[in-house]
Amino acid sequence: MNTVLLASNRGPVSFTHADDGTLTMRRGGGGVVSGLSEVVKDADVLWVCAALSDGDRSAVRLAPGGRLDQAGYDTGPVRMLDIPPATFHRAYNAVANSTLWFVNHLLYDTPNSPQFDTRFRREWESYQDYNAAFALALAEEAAHGARVMVQDYHLTLAPAMLRVERPDLRIAHFSHTPWAPPEYFSLLPDDIAAELLTGILGADQAGFLTARWASAFMDCCEALLGAHVDRVQRTIGYEGHLTRIGVHPLGVDGDALWARASEPDVESHMAALRERVGDRKLIVRIDRTELSKNIVRGLSSYRQFLTDHPEWHGKVVHLAFAYPSRHDLPEYREYTAAVQRCAQQIEDEFAGEDWDPLILNVDDDYARSLAAYRMADVLLVNPIRDGMNLVAKEGPILAPHCALVLSREAGAAAELGSDALLVNPYDVSGTANALHEALTLPEEERAKRGTRLRAAATALPPRQWFADQLAALGD
Ligand code: G6P
Repeated sequence: MNTVLLASNRGPVSFTHADDGTLTMRRGGGGVVSGLSEVVKDADVLWVCAALSDGDRSAVRLAPGGRLDQAGYDTGPVRMLDIPPATFHRAYNAVANSTLWFVNHLLYDTPNSPQFDTRFRREWESYQDYNAAFALALAEEAAHGARVMVQDYHLTLAPAMLRVERPDLRIAHFSHTPWAPPEYFSLLPDDIAAELLTGILGADQAGFLTARWASAFMDCCEALLGAHVDRVQRTIGYEGHLTRIGVHPLGVDGDALWARASEPDVESHMAALRERVGDRKLIVRIDRTELSKNIVRGLSSYRQFLTDHPEWHGKVVHLAFAYPSRHDLPEYREYTAAVQRCAQQIEDEFAGEDWDPLILNVDDDYARSLAAYRMADVLLVNPIRDGMNLVAKEGPILAPHCALVLSREAGAAAELGSDALLVNPYDVSGTANALHEALTLPEEERAKRGTRLRAAATALPPRQWFADQLAALGD
């Protein structure tokens, strides 16, 4: 039985079948997972996660009770849930990633607006089943009075389900995404909107990355449930239960990041990049190819900047890293193609014999990203909407003289806004102007801003972020 438990869709490890049929284990990817892996490394925390692939399912079947640590894997305590693939697919792809992600990032537009029909109802049932599987496993594993930290939009129903099973537990939920305002959130069917909100209100504590997202959640609870919201105390009372609202702006462990970024593989990527770009200035962006990251408008802004400022031709290179993401969804495949088309236009319009204005990399390579950060003169982070955006925090840590062009809709803008050049992510011309301003920002001004950006980015590293939330739940 465990006294601290963590639950998230993606776990700290994943498995693949090698050609000879054996299983190979890899550390899990993604920002949230790598942050959390750091946090639980030396603590006795049981991590409950889902099997995401056939490799994961094979590993679970070989592990007693789904406990990977007890099957001899070097993982720390991990229980992986073997949820039936079709249920998992509907819960993860159709509900979590195609619906909840789209709602909270305001991603629907007219040609792509949702239709909640009988098919969606079936997908919703899978989402309920998936959340119930987590609640059941957590109820089985938790010691009396244990603290349970449930993560993200995949698991909004689990807190309330778990409370019914185990009222003795202290439960926290944390949203790593933005939260939509009530007028947008209410495009969901009324019963489903209510179930999502009451799911989270089953927790004793609901955490958000910024005051803005916390406030939107409180507005939704008030407007759609008629819950009693106390904005001064940051509490929500609903059906006799009180949920405290916490704001915990996740930051970066600067020392650990520098240690990784000083390794030889990063240094050799830097040398190769320098060889390729010479002494030209570098505008860098690093993202998953994700609709909310607004990569197409970012590239269009660079194109506009090159049109407006021919004096920069041959003197600047845009390094755009856009890693593959969620390719099971057609919207993401189409978006990847749109990014590539836009990059090609820039190439066709501006490339010369000895100047490549844009280097687009679409394959994931962490060491190469770290090299790009270290060499950046300008970092462009322009999401339509983002829970936090850790790229905006990692860049200034690794590139002390780098100017940051940052979307005002990223959660990170709350802490970094006064030292970044803030942009409206839809305003391509405004972003093009900001790129020019960033490139021409005087050295002394960059250094001053850089020092303050670094301080803000490292203010709440993952360990402290997690410890604060545990402490808020009580001992
Ligand atoms: C980003 C988001 C997280 C989310 C994760 C899921 O990191 O900020 O809120 O949990 O993506 O990504 P995945 O690849 O697991 O769908």
